[in-house]
Amino acid sequence: MYARLIGTGSYLPEKILTNAELATRVETSDEWIASRTGIRERRIAAEHQMTSDLALKAVERALESAGIAREEIDLLIVATTTPDNTFPSTACLLQEKLGVHGFPAFDVQAVCAGFVYALTTANAMIKSGVAKCAVVVGAEKLSSIVDWNDRGTCVLFGDGAGAVVLKASETPGILSTQLHADGRYSGILKAEGRVNHGAVVGNPFIYMEGNAVFKFAVRALADVAEKTLAAAGLQKSDIDWLVPHQANLRIIESTAKHLGLPMEQVIVTVDKHGNTSAASIPLALDEGVKSGRIKPGQTLLLEGIGGGFAWGSVLLKF
Ligand code: UT7
Repeated sequence: MYARLIGTGSYLPEKILTNAELATRVETSDEWIASRTGIRERRIAAEHQMTSDLALKAVERALESAGIAREEIDLLIVATTTPDNTFPSTACLLQEKLGVHGFPAFDVQAVCAGFVYALTTANAMIKSGVAKCAVVVGAEKLSSIVDWNDRGTCVLFGDGAGAVVLKASETPGILSTQLHADGRYSGILKAEGRVNHGAVVGNPFIYMEGNAVFKFAVRALADVAEKTLAAAGLQKSDIDWLVPHQANLRIIESTAKHLGLPMEQVIVTVDKHGNTSAASIPLALDEGVKSGRIKPGQTLLLEGIGGGFAWGSVLLKF
């Protein structure tokens, strides 16, 4: 039994924040941001829009593309690092917004690796017979935890959501998955603020040692790609599309080079979306599918990495 991806959907908030606009707020420039990261613009959610609102729109679009009624869902997993509330989970709030109830719904917190963690979890639950029709979402409102005075981080992040529908199938599907984490690196990328006795304790904004993260990501992503291919008995040349986490164009190019893939076989959305953490992979996937580049039967490698450190990848037949 395989978990097969039968639909994708995504949602981006209306407001576009360009590099030029950011340059009026902090000491930066379009040239610096574009040349160091590949980012040109990002989307910012409205004040009233919560992560579950962004997720709802992405899920509705994914269900439509899959031709599935919401009543058929029997598992809902939301990957997010910006939940609506401390609790209930964003997945439970989303379930209520979808208007269907009873089946398991929970959040996965693995920051920018969240979507591959959530997809791997859904895959395991489908393969073991626990679920037959799962919806997996990556959704973020990162603008709420960005320090808009810190030029080192505020130029990087954006808001958005992406979702996929997975169905139990005898036709392949997800071929192999790999997850890793190393808590020794928890200090180089974090938002450590927490609520304690009614007050926020610690820095509530994203803190990142960019260079250290960059070096770790390049190494870890190359390694995990090889392990995922080996687990499925496939070669680098079998990959039709790389759908990577969208943090930095230079990291994406380095991964593609390691895999021997020309950039024409890589889905890049970082220029338009910035880094949307758990949402970035399903947003890129949906863009690849809706633009007609990703076609049925093709082999896709999805890769994510972020705070924790947590990273992983999923190899699948679309
Ligand atoms: O999603 C999780 C994974 N996250 C990532 O993968 C992010 C990984 N890291 C990166 O993408 C890069 O490290 C950054 C884009 C964040 C930074 O690029 P960098 O080439 O590593 O730059 P840097 O941090 O070494 O900074 C170089 C210079 C510094 O100035 P000095 O000390 O050389 O005078 C910074 O202060 O660039 C300065 N700088 C900026 N200048 C203009 C930092 N941010 C900005 C800015 N505009 N926005």
